[in-house]
Order: sequence, then C-alpha cells, then structure tokens
Amino acid sequence: MGLYSSYILPRAVHLACGSKPVMRQRKKVVPYARGCVLEVGIGTGLNLPYYDTTRVSKVWGLDPEPAMIRMAHRVADSVPFEVDFIGLSGAEIPLEDNSVDTVVMTYTLCTIADTFTALLQMRRVLRPGGELIFCEHGAAPDASVRRWQDRINPIWKRLGGGCHLNRVIPAEIEAGGFRIKSMDSMYIAGWRPVSFNYRGVAVSR
Ligand SMILES: C[S@@+](CC[C@H](N)C(=O)[O-])C[C@H]1O[C@@H](n2cnc3c(N)ncnc32)[C@H](O)[C@@H]1O
Repeated sequence: MGLYSSYILPRAVHLACGSKPVMRQRKKVVPYARGCVLEVGIGTGLNLPYYDTTRVSKVWGLDPEPAMIRMAHRVADSVPFEVDFIGLSGAEIPLEDNSVDTVVMTYTLCTIADTFTALLQMRRVLRPGGELIFCEHGAAPDASVRRWQDRINPIWKRLGGGCHLNRVIPAEIEAGGFRIKSMDSMYIAGWRPVSFNYRGVAVSR
C-alpha cells in the first residue's frame, strides 16, 4: 500500500468529511439509528459521537481500509457504547442473517465498487422492519452540474479512492432491493459537483 492510500487519503477524507456542512447532515440522520447498528464504511469514525446513546446498544464498524479503522479506533474509545470493527468490504459482511436493527451508511455508497452485492448483504443482515439510514452525495439534478460531474468523475475516482461523483443514489438503493420510505435531497454548502446530498431512510422490499 502506498503512502497516498495509507496516509494522505485517509487524512484528506477525514478533513473533507469533517467539514461543517457535512457534519450538519450527519447530525440530522445518525441519531435515528437504534439497537444493534452496522455502519458500512465507518471511515475515521466521524458518525460515532452522533449516535443517541439511549437508543444504540452496539455498533459494528465495517471498512475495508485498515488506515481508516485505525483512526476510527481513537473515536470509538471515547463513546459509551460497544464498537467492534470489521475490516472487510460491504459486499462481504460476515454477520448473521437478521442480526442488526439499523444499517447506517454515510458518504460511502459513492465509493463501494459492487453496490448491488453490498446492498444485498445489508438487506440480509437487517432484521425484518430494520432500517437503512443513508446520507450520501451523488448525481445533481441540474444538467450543467451533472455535465461537470460526468467530466471530472474519472480523475476524481482515481484521486478519491474510488469515489464516484455521479451516482444516482436513490436508484442504486432501490436496485439493491430497498424501498425508500423518506428522503430529502439538496445542495449543501460547497463545490456543487460534490455537494448534492441525498438523506433518508429505506427498508427492505
Ligand atoms: C468518503 S469515505 C466516508 C467515510 C464515512 N462513512 C464518513 O461518513 O465519514 C468512504 C468510505 O467508504 C469505505 N469503503 C470503500 N469501499 C468500501 C466497500 N466496498 N465497503 C464498505 N466501505 C467501503 C472507504 O474505506 C471509506 O472509509
């Protein structure tokens, strides 16, 4: 693993994902998680302080990048609930069927290579009635912004550890077998090609 992906990229992601506008979005969704939670693509653990400690019993933090997990460990030590880490992709979740109450996924679906299999796995581990809480950036509704997203995407993907700018997030989630129960979408503050945000709740179909 090179210096870029093991050292520079995790810190760059931590800074970008820790910006004020992005943190405001996390605060709106993460407190809805309850029970036993699987966070897919936990990254550097930026969501951990936003879990409602009266609703959450445990968090499984899954991420295939060891450097991200190392950074998340430091945050996990400061929260009052149990956090266990799984160093794998969302496409190979090693948990039992129907074993978690909530799946949380923030700014991660843009980066997962095989979104269909990962969403299938999320559905498998969710208990009946369990919810997928998501907050993601993705394809913008304006043609001019969308053109830039498509144009920049190839280079963005290479620099951003596989992050796509132009994924149509609700379509991906529905293609993975979920029904979207509620969703808000809007531009948040920042550079428009990366700032169109989808935030919502989905359940298995
Ligand atoms: C932009 S970061 C977001 C991190 C975190 N979710 C947050 O909101 O700050 C994307 C994360 O997705 C992770 N990731 C990449 N491929 C993945 C996969 N196949 N399954 C799960 N996570 C993945 C990356 O390692 C990285 O931690």
